[in-house]
Amino acid sequence: MTNRYAVILAAGQGTRMKSKLYKVLHPVCGKPMVQHVVDQISSLQMKQMVAVVGHGAEKVQEQLGDHIQYVLQEEQLGTAHAVMQAEEVLANEEGVTLVVCGDTPLITSETMERLIAEHETLGAKATILTAQADDPTGYGRIIRNSEGTVERNVEHKDASEEERKVTEINTGTYCFDNKALFEALKKVSNDNVQGEYYLPDVIEILKKAGEVVAAYQTPDFNETLGVNDRVALSKAESFMKKRINERHMRNGVTLIDPEQTYISDDAEIGSDTVIYPGTVILGNTKIGEENIIGPQSEIKDSVVGSGNTIRQSVIHDSVVGNETAIGPFAHIRPKSVLENNVKIGNFVEIKKSVMSTGSKASHLSYIGDAEIGKDVNLGCGSITVNYDGKNKFLTKVEDGAFIGCNSNLVAPVTVGKNAYVAAGSTITNDVPAESLSIARSRQTVKENYVRKLNEKQNQ
Ligand code: UD1
Ligand code: CA
Repeated sequence: MTNRYAVILAAGQGTRMKSKLYKVLHPVCGKPMVQHVVDQISSLQMKQMVAVVGHGAEKVQEQLGDHIQYVLQEEQLGTAHAVMQAEEVLANEEGVTLVVCGDTPLITSETMERLIAEHETLGAKATILTAQADDPTGYGRIIRNSEGTVERNVEHKDASEEERKVTEINTGTYCFDNKALFEALKKVSNDNVQGEYYLPDVIEILKKAGEVVAAYQTPDFNETLGVNDRVALSKAESFMKKRINERHMRNGVTLIDPEQTYISDDAEIGSDTVIYPGTVILGNTKIGEENIIGPQSEIKDSVVGSGNTIRQSVIHDSVVGNETAIGPFAHIRPKSVLENNVKIGNFVEIKKSVMSTGSKASHLSYIGDAEIGKDVNLGCGSITVNYDGKNKFLTKVEDGAFIGCNSNLVAPVTVGKNAYVAAGSTITNDVPAESLSIARSRQTVKENYVRKLNEKQNQ
């Protein structure tokens, strides 16, 4: 196979976004645009990927990691100038080079693969990926000759009235013979309305030099959407959401209302899981089979097994086993582990704690920094008092223990196996296994108190 290289253009500031956040880092379905692009390119067996970065270079590098090489474009003088920055790294290589804009998050590896195939079949020096746009405003237009072969690209701002009527647009993705690309780039001028060095000018330069240039038109315009402002960003979000949701539905996941379901590109969901509206599944989340999730639940960077019910609840950075019931209105905070057959009921917050198999916190509890054994019942209003204002302390409740309602377990403290804690207790010392601890003041009854009070008042 010919060596393949990729150049990702990510140096533009993105003024039209009117944002402090660097344009290509704006997320689409929870993942930065440029990361979508890189993820798709990565599956194409590239020998090397080079990202051209400018403003906010470190942030882009932080996001994309070090399997990519970075070149700095100090001044944003145009897309041709951007690719030129990769000259030192790539100019002497033999092979094909794909150039992709970091602001086209919907582009797929399949389309790029077809572009490369077309390029190789035609023996072209440059092949431009085009699409038919309903509204081509703002895009470069593809100018073909009377035989239908591509002659050049003209940018919207430079186009004549006649040229602006053309609806075939430059998607900003190209495939080049690497050496021909870097040779042609030297000849690109900035003699145009924007005073920029335009990458698509390479097409005309190669054509005039008698080389084969081609345009490959992809049928799906939506896939090539370039995000320059927040209106386009919302369109990208909606297309990406549809794509992701359809993938899951085809894999056997039921989405009751896909319009109202938001799933990150990296999430995995098993078959026969049913997701109700208003559910948001973020980051790197793995969900097994036959779960019922939602309505209105948020699960982020978590692993969820099978057969669970998660209603109106939030789970972050945590692990849930199988056959566990969560919610409505529960909050599972980072580093929590809920094993199998666990029940977390309404208004329960769990933080950095393990709830072992068969344990329950059914109502109104805060469980933080705790290790809860198997088959433990945490009564309504059980609280781990884990924080003294400076440090956090561990609470252990061993297998089979029963914590009565409205109890405070003041950490560090251990409640032994099968022990009971009486309702309303504030436990400050360890409770031995199999014992009962009562830590509350005794009830005093004043017989006839109310009658006497009333008599006194009526005198
Ligand atoms: C570009 C194309 C246009 C095409 C459209 C598709 C040019 C001249 N125009 O226009 O034909 O229809 O994409 O979406 O190429 N960038 C740099 N350095 C620069 C300038 C841009 O790295 O000096 C990067 C940007 O970060 C962006 C990409 O190149 O990721 C495209 O630049 P942008 O300014 O968005 O170009 P468009 O006006 O959209
Ligand atoms: Ca753009």
